[in-house]
Amino acid sequence: MAEPQLVDLADLKPRLQRTFDHYASKFGTLIDHHPDYFPIYTEGGRWRHGGELWTDWCAGFLTGILWHCYRRIRHEWWRDKAEHYCRLLEHKQHDRDVHDLGFIFLNSYLPWYEVTGDASKKRVVVTAGQTLAMRFRERGQYLCSFIGPESLFIDIMMNVPIIFYAARETGDERLLEVAKAHCRTTERTIVRPDGSTAHEGIFDTNTGEFLRQSTHQGLSAESDWTRGLAWSLYGFGTVYSYTNDPADLAVAERNADHFIDRCPDGLVAPWDFDAPEGDRMADSSASAIAASGLWQLADLTRDPSRAARYQDAALTILDTLCSDAYVSWNDPEWEGVLKHGVYHKPKGLGVDQSVMWGEFFFLEAICKVLAMIDGD
Ligand code: GLY
Repeated sequence: MAEPQLVDLADLKPRLQRTFDHYASKFGTLIDHHPDYFPIYTEGGRWRHGGELWTDWCAGFLTGILWHCYRRIRHEWWRDKAEHYCRLLEHKQHDRDVHDLGFIFLNSYLPWYEVTGDASKKRVVVTAGQTLAMRFRERGQYLCSFIGPESLFIDIMMNVPIIFYAARETGDERLLEVAKAHCRTTERTIVRPDGSTAHEGIFDTNTGEFLRQSTHQGLSAESDWTRGLAWSLYGFGTVYSYTNDPADLAVAERNADHFIDRCPDGLVAPWDFDAPEGDRMADSSASAIAASGLWQLADLTRDPSRAARYQDAALTILDTLCSDAYVSWNDPEWEGVLKHGVYHKPKGLGVDQSVMWGEFFFLEAICKVLAMIDGD
């Protein structure tokens, strides 16, 4: 069982700042060389390639990176770019074919609203939340994934907060009921007693009965796919910040304890905790998501010893990742920042590459810690 380290912030801070500066350089170059292009994963370190997308869900992450750069650098060039990339996404607020509207709009139009206070930007986020709620299946009580009406994904826990947001901003009780019901169904069907999670739940669409756990991106239906676990940890924590329901906090804590306990030293997770020796490559993106989710959870938990453990774990992950082994400082040909991520191992897509959500959540975690150090 791995334990978080006690990380020296004075030692970590310059590496956080160096990594942030590297982001500004790499992503400034990306949008300069490939304007209006939303990549998902690299091939051979290159963002633009002809590889399969599986599903197109990442546009909010590039936009969110531009907002993080603006919020720290405070130069209008970044704001112009972030606003421009937001506008390219506006039409997606009505997209009923995807379950990723939270990923897209909480990282694009929500920061735009927060920066400007412009109510028209908030309206786009609210509409996206209302659109996502249309995926709710009365029979079964869940938001279905893009796969089809029978499918619930653990990833949706990162998207359901946009429905809580829309419910809060509109006072619409029905939206609140839908979002809460989805969380309880997810907990009951694909969060396991030990805190691990399945990627997918399959339901009988006629009766709403839960049939079985399943996976697309993990090793097997029963296995411990680490990115899904990180989505659950972070998602249930965010949901708790809306609901104040101890059931949501308890799931996030169970996920967090399980994630930390099963990680190797340094807390960079393999792509699936059950992957056999010889096939246990890291998924740095899982740990980047976990770092940001653990940092948040340290603030939310009511237990001081847990808070300390989660904060140390988040810092341990950043301490490990902000290094030559993971950041492309010494590889000018590599177009991403965070190396050694995994997209879709069973399909062989984006394996040992940079992935856009890894880039986003690593930067988000770095910005949170730098803000704390700077007293912002
Ligand atoms: N299905 C979203 C992910 O790759 O985590």
